[in-house]
Amino acid sequence: MTPEKLVELAKEAMTHAYAPYSGYKVGAALLCADGTVYQGCNIENSAYSPTNCAERTAFFKAVYDGHRDFSAIAICGGKDGVITGAFPPCGVCRQVMREFCKPDFLVYIINAEGYETQTLADLLPHSFSL
Ligand code: THU
Repeated sequence: MTPEKLVELAKEAMTHAYAPYSGYKVGAALLCADGTVYQGCNIENSAYSPTNCAERTAFFKAVYDGHRDFSAIAICGGKDGVITGAFPPCGVCRQVMREFCKPDFLVYIINAEGYETQTLADLLPHSFSL
């Protein structure tokens, strides 16, 4: 699985978004250590706080299926599904990544031109875990 292919899968996942309130469609493609990929989208709610981000949708699908080892995630988002810039993961999603991933877990943040690569350690320094 190349980063470029994971990026394409994140873009495809974005088309599944349920985002009638914000209009921001978000997609994620999570690469497991065994090569399996889980896609996720944001799923909004009229009460707002039950909204689930795309990244967590992908993680929760994968963990339910028994996966615990992850290599990378690609993320994209934009108003009405149009990518105009980077859509970095929110703090809650970074903490969910921290639950399951090592500091060198790769995060491909997609932008209009391509993608930038970060590590989880870059995105969540001095992190909390038990
Ligand atoms: N969103 C994500 O899916 N992932 C993030 O990391 C940040 C925010 C979603 C939640 C909401 O549906 C929309 O983007 C606007 O905040």
